[in-house]
Amino acid sequence: MRRAAPLAAVLLTVVAAVLLIARDADAHALLARADPPINASLRESPTRITLFMTEQLQRSHSSVQVLDSNGQRRDIGETEFSDAVPTQMGVRVLRLDPGVYTVVWETLSEVDGHTWTGSYVFSVLNPDGSAPAGSGVVVDLDRPGPPVAADSVVKAIGLGALVLFVGAVGITALLRPSPLPALMPLMALAVVVGLAATGYETIAGALRLGDIGFLGDVLFDSRNGLWLQQRWYALILAALLLTWRLSRPSSTPRPLLLILALVAAVWLASASAISHGAAIGSGWIWGTLFDALHLAAASVWIGGLAALLLSVRANPDRRIDAVRRFSVVAALMVPVLLAAGLLSALIQIPDIDGIAGTDWGAAFIAKLILLCLLFAAAAANAFLLRPRDAAASGSDPILARRFSRMMRAEVALGLAVIAVSAVLTQLPSPASAQPEVEQKDNTVVETVARGDVVASLEISPNLVGFNTWTAAVDAPSNNPVEALLLRFRYQDRSVGPVTVPATRIAEDRFQLEGAYFGLPGEWTVEMELRRAAGDDLVAGVRTGVESGFQASPFAADRGGALALPLTQMDWNGVGALWAFLLAALAWINRPRIRRRWGPRGGDAAFAGGLLGLIVAVVLLTGLHVEPGRTLANPVLRTEQSVERGAALFARNCASCHGEQGAGDGPLADTLPAPPANFTVHVPFHPDGVLFAWISDGIRGTGMPAWSPQLSDQERWDLVNFLRASFDVSVAQ
Ligand code: HEC
Repeated sequence: MRRAAPLAAVLLTVVAAVLLIARDADAHALLARADPPINASLRESPTRITLFMTEQLQRSHSSVQVLDSNGQRRDIGETEFSDAVPTQMGVRVLRLDPGVYTVVWETLSEVDGHTWTGSYVFSVLNPDGSAPAGSGVVVDLDRPGPPVAADSVVKAIGLGALVLFVGAVGITALLRPSPLPALMPLMALAVVVGLAATGYETIAGALRLGDIGFLGDVLFDSRNGLWLQQRWYALILAALLLTWRLSRPSSTPRPLLLILALVAAVWLASASAISHGAAIGSGWIWGTLFDALHLAAASVWIGGLAALLLSVRANPDRRIDAVRRFSVVAALMVPVLLAAGLLSALIQIPDIDGIAGTDWGAAFIAKLILLCLLFAAAAANAFLLRPRDAAASGSDPILARRFSRMMRAEVALGLAVIAVSAVLTQLPSPASAQPEVEQKDNTVVETVARGDVVASLEISPNLVGFNTWTAAVDAPSNNPVEALLLRFRYQDRSVGPVTVPATRIAEDRFQLEGAYFGLPGEWTVEMELRRAAGDDLVAGVRTGVESGFQASPFAADRGGALALPLTQMDWNGVGALWAFLLAALAWINRPRIRRRWGPRGGDAAFAGGLLGLIVAVVLLTGLHVEPGRTLANPVLRTEQSVERGAALFARNCASCHGEQGAGDGPLADTLPAPPANFTVHVPFHPDGVLFAWISDGIRGTGMPAWSPQLSDQERWDLVNFLRASFDVSVAQ
């Protein structure tokens, strides 16, 4: 036990370091929407193509190209990125003549270094509005299919080496006399294999980007590479140390064990930091932690058992004692492995459809089947063979041989599970592989003349949701247009109107982006032109807005690193799972605790287990910790506030929640689950909770976070509107 303390300290330090450095690795960044939109027909040449992807972009290897129908590039300059919206990239284009253009994009995955590419077309119409000649070009998209088999095999071998090394270090710390001399060859083998696998990964990464010349990019210009580097350093250090020690076995100084433990921890960390769990965007800290715990527990159990068998062979008379010690550790590891694995799986499988019909799903089911076999073997060893072997004090050679054969089977099954897990890390998980969102385009350009000014307004994509309004104004130079405001009215009804200033993007151009079309139907967009020498003008454009689902550009990274990464479980569920786990641990180990600390210890373990169970049940059923419960509403529910809320609701919320709040808006069918009926729900939730939901969104339901777009005051106005309209207990 005294040796375990420094080991634990080293492990904790490294876990902390992983969490600090591992900052959101990206999975597969796919196209969510584009501006101009996919398949758009434009009246005028765009000046820039902007793509919104589903994940944050790794800038060094993400790019956009625009090709005309002859395959000539029409983009100029480098691909540009936005600090404000990290999922966005774009490129400026030359003036585009009427014709069909193909946009080709490429992104690099931080998880496995695989690139993803895709393409779509848009066209610039002839001056008379007719479709242009030409067609999109066929691009050879080197979209990575299932991974090259060799990648998976190497990954599996590398992970196996990691597990054996960690297990050998664990057993060295656990047993006395130290079995290090017997385990050193195993460690050396694991390190050599680990070095070979890391070398392969590094070179394969460079080849995937082009050729071996990209080696530097792989190692020094990506987060994946940062971890590859750490692994190189750790393994080379271990190789040097082991070579030096192998030449003079004998006793084991503690510093050596500590350094080996550090190597094991870095190796573990580098495997978890570039896992799927690290790639989920918001909540990535938990994703990484669950993956790290899962892998560490698996290594100590399976690798430990393999090392145990080796040390027992070298030191047969300590067998019973060694097996007894190890069985305590393994009994601790199995529940941790299960709980962390369950949480990781829930993160990667947002809904059950994700398992069906994908390679990842098939590998996941294979892993579950192998796991069942592994648990059967482990249970036979722990509950049948070990007690009988211990009772016979090792004097029954047939039993001892059968026991050792079964333990070897357990190791083999464990390594098989680990190999399948390695394949899983090479496949895009259901959480990371979202299909490209279908996007319609309804772009309109209307030109209106008022007095001495001609103004044209382009609305793109002119669908419910996020839009871009671009106004081009032509005014006499002695009285130019100084500022332009856009006013949105819905079907001439009292909803709105909302007036928003547009940003000047050129001498005669103004632009506004936002989600000001909240409902399908007829909208009037009024351009209010502020002029230098008076004569302000208003010019209105009517447009029919259809619904067409679009991903919000804010959707990719909401909630931050510590947000709950699960869609199927809230924090109470996660707490309950760990409380159950502690209860199970206390009960499973009660006989041991009683043996060691007497009947009182046994009672304490029983009480601890009961307490864990009660906590779990309370968490699951009773106590619901809602976000925002303690927030007080600072905005009085005045008529004005409710009215402002009503306008905001019609513009932003009715598209999903329906005009009457019944959850039947036109977008409701596009969501994973329809919104709740406010009349039923609002009375049950205090203002602060409604505010928190509106501000931060509700994960996994399609309810977006509004804090990026609406001010605090506006969100409280919405709460006041909801309370006044849907809570019958409130006097109107
Ligand atoms: C893209 C569709 C969409 C939009 C737009 C949207 N919501 Fe939601 N909202 C949902 C979904 C889905 C849920 C979750 C289902 C549920 O539990 O009600 C939800 C839940 C809520 C809840 C919690 C209801 C409860 O009691 O469970 C509130 C409050 C809410 N939304 C308010 C708003 C407000 C205010 C706006 C506008 C600023 C808005 N929503 C815009 C889809 C949307």
